[in-house]
Amino acid sequence: MEAIVSLCKRRGFIFPGSEIYGGLAGTFDYGPLGVMLKKNIQNSWWKHFVTNREDMYGIDAAILMNPRAWEASGHVSGFSDPLVECNKCHRRYRADHIEEKNGVKHCPEDNEVLGEPRQFNMMFKTNIGATEDPTSISYLRPETAGGMFVNFKNVVDSFHPRLPFGLAQIGKAFRNEIAPRDFIFRLREMEQMEIEYFCKPDTWEKTFEHLRSEFNVWLFSIGLSKEKIHEVEIGDGDRAHYSKRTIDFEFDFPIGQKELAGLAYRTDFDLKQHSLFSKTDLSYFDEDTKERFVPHCIEPSIGVERAVLAVLASAYKEEQVGDEIRTVLSFVPSIAPIQVAILPLSKKEELINPARKILQSLQKIGRVQMDVTQSIGKRYRRQDEIGTPYCVTVDFETLVDNEVTVRDRDTMKQERVPIKDLEEYFAKKLV
Ligand code: GAP
Repeated sequence: MEAIVSLCKRRGFIFPGSEIYGGLAGTFDYGPLGVMLKKNIQNSWWKHFVTNREDMYGIDAAILMNPRAWEASGHVSGFSDPLVECNKCHRRYRADHIEEKNGVKHCPEDNEVLGEPRQFNMMFKTNIGATEDPTSISYLRPETAGGMFVNFKNVVDSFHPRLPFGLAQIGKAFRNEIAPRDFIFRLREMEQMEIEYFCKPDTWEKTFEHLRSEFNVWLFSIGLSKEKIHEVEIGDGDRAHYSKRTIDFEFDFPIGQKELAGLAYRTDFDLKQHSLFSKTDLSYFDEDTKERFVPHCIEPSIGVERAVLAVLASAYKEEQVGDEIRTVLSFVPSIAPIQVAILPLSKKEELINPARKILQSLQKIGRVQMDVTQSIGKRYRRQDEIGTPYCVTVDFETLVDNEVTVRDRDTMKQERVPIKDLEEYFAKKLV
């Protein structure tokens, strides 16, 4: 984990939030390469689950919602973690993160016996408007799901979708975690990619299996290996209050096997609750059977940062090459921040000019950048470290034979390719 955190900082992927002020626990900022990696993962999810399907409707709802929505969903009364406090140093811990010794939990700092756990609501409260009283309280959404349930009727009324269909959203969510930790694994400000997929009540099992398998297909497509993903059935006492069945997709992170994503059968809980609290009919009329009912819902949900961390952990490699250690991020080309780096061997105009022409032509098909500083060996190492799958070297031979050297990041093999064939050469490799 330390090596990944250090590379992310050094190479401009991810920085601690508000770092020059000493940081802010549970927040991280994305640098130029990190934001590209994150957006590529988001775009790949959106393409797989929304653009490439006919039964998904994307939405982008407001983060601030009418607080009644969070009463309806059960988050005001029940979205809490058990908190224990040390009476001596007043540090607070999540009770389930502290192991008991002889039936008692001790403070990890000063070994003091910890008090009884109390429930701590994880929603961030805020006040809407100029008055700060109980009537102006609202919350930063703790999950993006709420924005989809409250827009169910809007989408049904404007698009008239036939069941089954899903609403999909990517957006920020906030949780006042008692103990944010492990780099971007447990955050207070994060992004989620969620789908609320609605179906007829008697088809929920089939729908669950369909989304389970699609979710795996997508996880593999961003470079996560099957062996590192573990589907874990969550038992009765441990599921969220709205779920009748949950499978967690756990991943072998550098910090151990932990939750990457979840797939939950939310039944008709949310639509019924929002119907009740908003006094709005959220039922669905089935044109085929002429029946009216409240659809049931299956929800695949994944935190963007956990996906980023899983991708980084899967891609990170250190290899012995001669006397050196080569650090490589072996991203799949479709999500690599930069897909091709153009490396003119000298800064002289006679090489920069053809290099720029190649750059412009390849930018039509992918994310391509020019890299001109330092020796060619150092540039290869730098590009390996930021996960660029291909380097194209423009040398003095190029001026004679109109060919360039293409180097493959993973095999380090090099081959000469005519400039005129480059677009075609890369077209299939970068998708
Ligand atoms: N709408 C369902 C829901 O929010 P969840 O299991 O609480 O369910 C879904 O969260 C996903 O969001 C998790 O599987 C994880 O990927 C991510 N996630 C949850 N809490 C997080 C946190 N504090 N920091 C980063 N990611 C988090």
